Amino acid sequence: MKNQEQFMEVILDHFENPRNYGAIESADVIQESGNPGCGDIIKVYLNVDSEGTANKISFSGEGCMLSQAGASLVLEKMVGKSIKEIQEMPPDIVQDTLGKKLVSTRPRCAMLGFNTLKNAVKQWQRQQTLSEIRNS
Ligand code: FES
Repeated sequence: MKNQEQFMEVILDHFENPRNYGAIESADVIQESGNPGCGDIIKVYLNVDSEGTANKISFSGEGCMLSQAGASLVLEKMVGKSIKEIQEMPPDIVQDTLGKKLVSTRPRCAMLGFNTLKNAVKQWQRQQTLSEIRNS
């Protein structure tokens, strides 16, 4: 179990060197969400393979350290998971990744990347449903 200082070190590292940062060319879904309280944003790029696996996830954005590092940390853990797994993923993963204290004091910042990915998955499912209807 990490202590608060260890969580902060990891967060700072991901803020300075965000993983999976930048656009995916020809992403299946591009989903942007913002935090209305401060205007900070995260844009998630998602690619899903024919097996229903999120084989590429990246993001870009602007905002506070916790929102940007949180997106880097949480989305990194989601690469390679199935759409179903991501859909069913409880928000506890954010707490486990960023630390309970930070998430409870700044939930909107901490959850922004996770919530944007969830919205991207919903958008991907909508697209699938529409294409099934078109092809039926
Ligand atoms: Fe805006 Fe953190 S202050 S998301």
